[in-house]
Amino acid sequence: MINKQIIWGVLFTLILASCSNDEKVVFINVDDNPVNPVPTQTLKEKAKFKIGAAVKMKDLQSEVNFKNAVVKHYSQITAEYEMKMANIWTSSTVYNWTAADYLVNFAKENNLEVHGHTLIWYDSFPEWFKTAKYDSIAFEAKVKVYITDVVGRYKGKVKSWDVVNEVFADGGALREESVIKTVFKDPIGFYGRCFQYARTADPDAKLFYNDYSVVMDAGKRASIKKMVTRFKAKGYPIDGLGDQFHYGNDTNKQTMKTGFTDLASTGLLIHISELDIKVNTAKSDSYVFSDAEAQKQSETYQYITAMYEELPQNQKFAITTWGVTDKYTWLTAFWNPKEYPLLLDSEYNKKPAYQGFLSGLK
Ligand code: XIL
Repeated sequence: MINKQIIWGVLFTLILASCSNDEKVVFINVDDNPVNPVPTQTLKEKAKFKIGAAVKMKDLQSEVNFKNAVVKHYSQITAEYEMKMANIWTSSTVYNWTAADYLVNFAKENNLEVHGHTLIWYDSFPEWFKTAKYDSIAFEAKVKVYITDVVGRYKGKVKSWDVVNEVFADGGALREESVIKTVFKDPIGFYGRCFQYARTADPDAKLFYNDYSVVMDAGKRASIKKMVTRFKAKGYPIDGLGDQFHYGNDTNKQTMKTGFTDLASTGLLIHISELDIKVNTAKSDSYVFSDAEAQKQSETYQYITAMYEELPQNQKFAITTWGVTDKYTWLTAFWNPKEYPLLLDSEYNKKPAYQGFLSGLK
């Protein structure tokens, strides 16, 4: 009895002596098991590459919990829509920089990087531009000025850009609905020159091609690889490829891995650029997000981050989640109101998905 008391006394004194005021005490019980585990790292603390989040100005401004979550867990931001062409280029002679400037300043103040999304996307040409019915010469001249102005304005501040987004339809053909397909005889040549315009405006920015289903759709991936080969042969500067990763709990993991390995064979930087994992894959209006479903989602996230870690070190760029909290996700409008695809729940608590993501990281 006396011996035990003496041991406890000595242990307690030693623990106190070895801790300065701001250090956390880890209590040890008699069996040497930690009672209070060391606090878990946040995503950005653990990852050796950037962890990005798509954000909107209004959420950062109006909700302190949103802002705090971004700063706490993430090391990079992407504008969810405010740096797209239709939002910036409001008329032929007017740019609206309000939100883009806000996001870039917010990033600087909070030590975050900015990934720019996106310079050329068929779905974001402004109405005034489409109704102008430019021929290919006038079209390209306008776009060249736009790229030069936008990339130039944020030179050194936006470290990377999705220069071109979603060129290919499912299966790998050029998208029929794209205005570029209608105007240009050789759309891929036009896209290559867009990369050149961006490089000239900021030689240090990393330049990406971005699309969805890249690792799942072999036909689309083949078209992307062919485009990259052509760019390289022509000297058009491309640094990386983004796959959006809007996948779900039902996505086939083996297909995902095979596609991912094939994508990595390009040797380019690889960006998981818009990650979210759907749980209500059947779009059911009576869907209930159960613990079992949350666990499945966690495993999917873990699989993805562990897979990303298998890339050669020099191809790792960032994993970006398309949002921060289940409270605000594009999928409630674009998929089903009952959808819970992100890492934090609507009260900003960490979901099992967060732990899954974290434990897949090295
Ligand atoms: C989505 C945004 O999340 C929505 O808020 C917006 O209204 C429409 O676009 N692929 C992309 C993203 O590259 O830009 C899209 O973002 C989602 C699909």
